[in-house]
Amino acid sequence: MEFNQPLYDYVVSAAKSFEQSLDLRPVTPSAETEKTLDYFREPLPVQGSTPLDVIKMLNEVGEPGVVSSRGGRYYGFVTGAALPVSVAANWLAASWDQNAGPYVLSPTAAVVEEVAGDWVLELLDLPRDSGFGFVTGATMASFTALSTARLSLYKKSGYDLKADGIRNAPKIRFIMSEEIHPTIIIGLQYMGYGKNELEFVPADDQGRMIAEKMPMLDDMSIVICQAGNVNSGSFDPFDAICAKAKEAGSWVHVDGAFGGWIRASKTRSHLAKGMEHADSWSVDCHKWLNIPHDSAIAIVRNRRAMLETFGVVAPYLVTGEKRDPDHYTPELSRRARGIEVWAALKHLGREGMGDLLDRCCNHAQKFADGLSKMGFKVLNDVVINQVVVTMDDESKLDNFISRVQQSGKTWFGPTNWHGRKGFRISVSSYVTTDEDVEIALTAIRKALN
Ligand SMILES: Cc1ncc(COP(=O)(O)O)c(C=O)c1O
Repeated sequence: MEFNQPLYDYVVSAAKSFEQSLDLRPVTPSAETEKTLDYFREPLPVQGSTPLDVIKMLNEVGEPGVVSSRGGRYYGFVTGAALPVSVAANWLAASWDQNAGPYVLSPTAAVVEEVAGDWVLELLDLPRDSGFGFVTGATMASFTALSTARLSLYKKSGYDLKADGIRNAPKIRFIMSEEIHPTIIIGLQYMGYGKNELEFVPADDQGRMIAEKMPMLDDMSIVICQAGNVNSGSFDPFDAICAKAKEAGSWVHVDGAFGGWIRASKTRSHLAKGMEHADSWSVDCHKWLNIPHDSAIAIVRNRRAMLETFGVVAPYLVTGEKRDPDHYTPELSRRARGIEVWAALKHLGREGMGDLLDRCCNHAQKFADGLSKMGFKVLNDVVINQVVVTMDDESKLDNFISRVQQSGKTWFGPTNWHGRKGFRISVSSYVTTDEDVEIALTAIRKALN
């Protein structure tokens, strides 16, 4: 096999120019730039092109339409910026083209993922013998954990879900706060539950579930909490919820998509106190761990329950003593996404990860202070990296937000928070500096005039 040196040289040089342009280029492409993407809309080619021509076209036509979420001034959704070490790990792993299914298909993928998963358990101080599976995002991580929870409760009750199916099964109850992330509801819908079957608990002004308002629980109940509300960043009261759930024999799942990582912060880990009492957790790695999309981890206290849910058995699937990664995820074949998690944690270490989290939180506080001084109203207690903001005259918000977005200096999006229209700023990138915050605040000030 011939090594295509010019192809890979080109990619390295294109990636270098892209990274070097991040501070200077508009944070999001203009509508004009987006139009050039129409060049991609050609008929399926009859004749192929050389790899170098393909990649040149991808870069020349595609790069101008890229959102600079890898830079320091993108505050939309909850978006991390891939650490260089994780990009390099991603490239090398792609070059290895490993299937992280059965151990025999890639001992390296299996071992590196196992180490990465163990490190995450240690970093987040979760039970060290938990099972974990590397999936695409928090949506799938919660789906994975909740599928495991369901099978586990049925097994305990003596019902064989795998053999007898969901149609004749006894009812399982799903209890969550009215502030739950919509992807939990979607995940449950994939599992066959309608929204009207779910039980919603009122939340307080910060979006935290009010534990006292939970319905009576039982041993066929699954309670879903959240570590990090997507708007306010708040945390459900895990100690109180888990105590009630344990007493009733219920399962507790924590959606810690981004907020779960706060357990690695030296200054704010107390916010997620009690999370360790749950039965399962989900964390997104492409958010606050700052690695490339798509990457998340489903963690389940009872490792065997994951094996029972996802272990695929077939005569041709060789298994042995070693950990088979596919026994912990809904997929059989997949890329070795744990390699980037390992690379990021090896690079950052516990200290580096803690600093990364604290820097983001401190920047969020700077935004809150700067915006308050400008006359905006901050609607949430800024406990981590999330700021929810509004202005006196809400009718001016849409225009204001789009002026900021069009400035190209920074980007954040709208939201609704307890009946008020506003916008939300999420500082999730390791790259963001004090100077970035200042540039963004200046752009905001200009957009007001
Ligand atoms: C609390 C929470 N849960 C779940 C998700 C969904 O994550 P993903 O897009 O990685 O599936 C998000 C995304 O922002 C989130 O904030």
